[in-house]
Amino acid sequence: MSDVSEIFDSMEYGPAPEDSGIAREWIAGRPDGFGVFIDGAWRTPEDAGRFDTFEPASGQVLTRLTQSGRAEVEAAVGAARGALPRWRGLSGHERARFLYALARGIQKHARLFSVLETLDNGKPIRESRDIDIPLVARHFYHHAGWAQLSGSGELADHEPVGVVGQIIPWNFPLLMLAWKVAPALAAGNTVVLKPAEFTSLTALLFADLCLEVGLPNGVFNVVTGDGETGAALVAHPGVDKIAFTGSTEVGRLIREATAGSGKRLSLELGGKSPFVVFDDADLDSVVEGVVDAIWFNQGQVCCAGSRILVQEGAAATLVDRLRARMEKLRVGDPLDKATDMGAIVAPVQLDRIREMVEEGRREGAEVWQPSWGIPEEGWFYPPTLCTGLHPDARLAREEVFGPVVVLHTFRTPAEAIQMANDTRYGLAASIWTENVNQALHIAPAIKAGTVWVNCTNRFDAASGFGGYRESGFGREGGLEGLWEYLRPIRTAPSGAGEGGERAGRDLPTTGATLETPAPSPPGGTARPQDASPAGADPDGGGIDVTAKLYIGGRQARPDGGYTLLVRGPEGGGVGEVARGNRKDARNAVEAARKAAGPWAARTAHNRAQVLFYLAENLSQASAEFEARLRDLGTDGRGAAAEVQASVRRLFTYAAWADKFDGRVHATPFRNVTLAMNEPLGVVTVVSPETPALLGAISSLAPLLCAGNAVIGVLPGAAGHIAGPLYRLLDGSDVPGGVVNLLTGLDDELRPTLADHDGVDGFWYFGSAGGGADVERRSIGNMKRTWTRSAPGPGWLTGEAGEGEAFLREATQVKNIWIPYGE
Ligand code: NAI
Repeated sequence: MSDVSEIFDSMEYGPAPEDSGIAREWIAGRPDGFGVFIDGAWRTPEDAGRFDTFEPASGQVLTRLTQSGRAEVEAAVGAARGALPRWRGLSGHERARFLYALARGIQKHARLFSVLETLDNGKPIRESRDIDIPLVARHFYHHAGWAQLSGSGELADHEPVGVVGQIIPWNFPLLMLAWKVAPALAAGNTVVLKPAEFTSLTALLFADLCLEVGLPNGVFNVVTGDGETGAALVAHPGVDKIAFTGSTEVGRLIREATAGSGKRLSLELGGKSPFVVFDDADLDSVVEGVVDAIWFNQGQVCCAGSRILVQEGAAATLVDRLRARMEKLRVGDPLDKATDMGAIVAPVQLDRIREMVEEGRREGAEVWQPSWGIPEEGWFYPPTLCTGLHPDARLAREEVFGPVVVLHTFRTPAEAIQMANDTRYGLAASIWTENVNQALHIAPAIKAGTVWVNCTNRFDAASGFGGYRESGFGREGGLEGLWEYLRPIRTAPSGAGEGGERAGRDLPTTGATLETPAPSPPGGTARPQDASPAGADPDGGGIDVTAKLYIGGRQARPDGGYTLLVRGPEGGGVGEVARGNRKDARNAVEAARKAAGPWAARTAHNRAQVLFYLAENLSQASAEFEARLRDLGTDGRGAAAEVQASVRRLFTYAAWADKFDGRVHATPFRNVTLAMNEPLGVVTVVSPETPALLGAISSLAPLLCAGNAVIGVLPGAAGHIAGPLYRLLDGSDVPGGVVNLLTGLDDELRPTLADHDGVDGFWYFGSAGGGADVERRSIGNMKRTWTRSAPGPGWLTGEAGEGEAFLREATQVKNIWIPYGE
């Protein structure tokens, strides 16, 4: 036997395996494998297929699961629909008691849940026992609180979305369940969950827990199966919202499949998150940070810090220390309490990791792995550090989802920001520096939903989590995440679409039209600009009568040189609008991209001043706007009221500019978690055709207020207000490019703008078909879309046309975690 000093020297240890009997017994309790959990009962569908589920550490079969088909999805959605009225009708307190009971139940059965998770997924017991399961319980406790508070405070006037389909991945099986199920139930929704095919067992155990705590039947249902089951759930018309976590590829398919369906959607997708190390960082902490960033859960973490960017001066030392630390990591039996890294979830995933690393090697990477070997039985891969790779190589750009990190160097902070953002993803980042100014300069500059300063992979139920760009949209956790499961209660008669915006009108339909030309110019009534306008002088000045677009702070002739005739309700021509085309749309995006950064960097006070100034000048120009609105068929009183409502709306957003601020979340670590509302960037907004002015102001103002640069499309006859509107913008200190105005045909402009990767968000207030088209086209860069039919009740006077709901759509929340104390 070695003495203590020898042990300290060698750091050898004896095995300390957790007994897996408790979980194996639970599995053995279903000798025929598992059915599905629907309407509070276990069902074994006769016709459904079956598949094996494996223990990654041994490669042995654990049990058999049901491959749910359409019939099971149908039954589960039906059960959730049936349970909805009673569940949403409970008081917040009653729902809170159920969520609290679930939290208690998780704690009571923590050992069973942890061991089962480790058996099924291959993750070290230390992680399932100390991280996953405690966080699961925390999510249910936290959301018991939200259930209690639902219907009060800022949650008042909101209702549950309805039946929610939730599709989760295999990397944190029970934790992803908790992230989705807890807020959904707290808000009064009912759920159909589809766990990942590799790791369904803890979700099935959770179903048992639902029975144990007496959750009403049908509130929570589980259908097991692969992507086909998931696709059937996504396609089911009885589902009101889909919440998905998984690969960006599948996220795209789901966005496409739900386009135009009116289903709410949140997507938490992949990442290639930068781990930025400055040369003043505490390198020993950095090394432990890297262990947590990329070797936690074998690197199968969506927000894994898989790209180390280190300042040149510190690179050699960091690489040396990392290699030394890697040599000491323990890979092996996940049930052993001293294991650092367990098994990879499935052979297909292991093959993917091997293949990507080999490709990296061929592309010039120096691939470093520890000297010791990995277990021969089961599916294991060693911790791997790749240096010397070109930043454009696939291994440096694509998500590996394994214990593989690439390392690049940078020289200056500006270069660090540029490299950090040189990715299509935007899920997370960590920044390591002892200089607080540096950290808080870099954190807002990195495009990611979560930024950890001198820490990494911190999560909590009180903080939102989710992506920018191709890492998806929507947040999970805290109030940010709760909004995904709520919608405003509309008191107006219900109509189609979210909240029934189509129902009722508070403004008369004007009846003005844009004369649609023959398919290709010159033809129809599209006319070259040198022809004299029909019927009216559109700009009222009598000298330059050419209708123009407004791009980059300048009036611009439409590229095609054509205009379109606006006819008033009586049929006579009242003016012309410029017919913007694809080139104009692209020019507008380019101008907006240039303006977006500086506009977002202005102070909120400054943006408020610009909005107040716009309001003041609109008030001054009311006669001109009223005349345009009368041309379009609004009566005199209506026109005056619309201008006044637009002035008020500008005041509202001027007021909000320095008040729609973030929060400091009460996360249970010694740190502050700053939730900052950041603009989306460049947003296209197609405003409603009527009310022309109020619709345009109601769409543009919240986006400007939040710091976005905007491409405003004034569709159809609404383009008639373009002239006075760009003169208003010109005279109100709106910096060039911050607002760009396009007029013409929605069908001609929309495809270019919805396809364009330079556009980060798209609000569409037009036809249902147009909205579906925007959603379908948004998948290129996963732009965030908001499609509503308009106008609706409240556009003129009520709150439905303004407020925080608009500002939430105009922003994305970034959570910055900053530890304190020594
Ligand atoms: P995946 O995205 O295919 O699977 C995630 C979930 O979606 C599973 O429940 C799956 O059954 C379901 N699904 C698959 N196709 C579907 C469809 N057409 N409609 C609806 N649901 C569908 O991920 P997979 O294949 O397990 O892993 C592939 C790669 O995806 C990984 O190597 C990794 O890079 C990435 N990934 C990222 C995750 C993240 O959290 N960001 C999680 C899991 C995987």
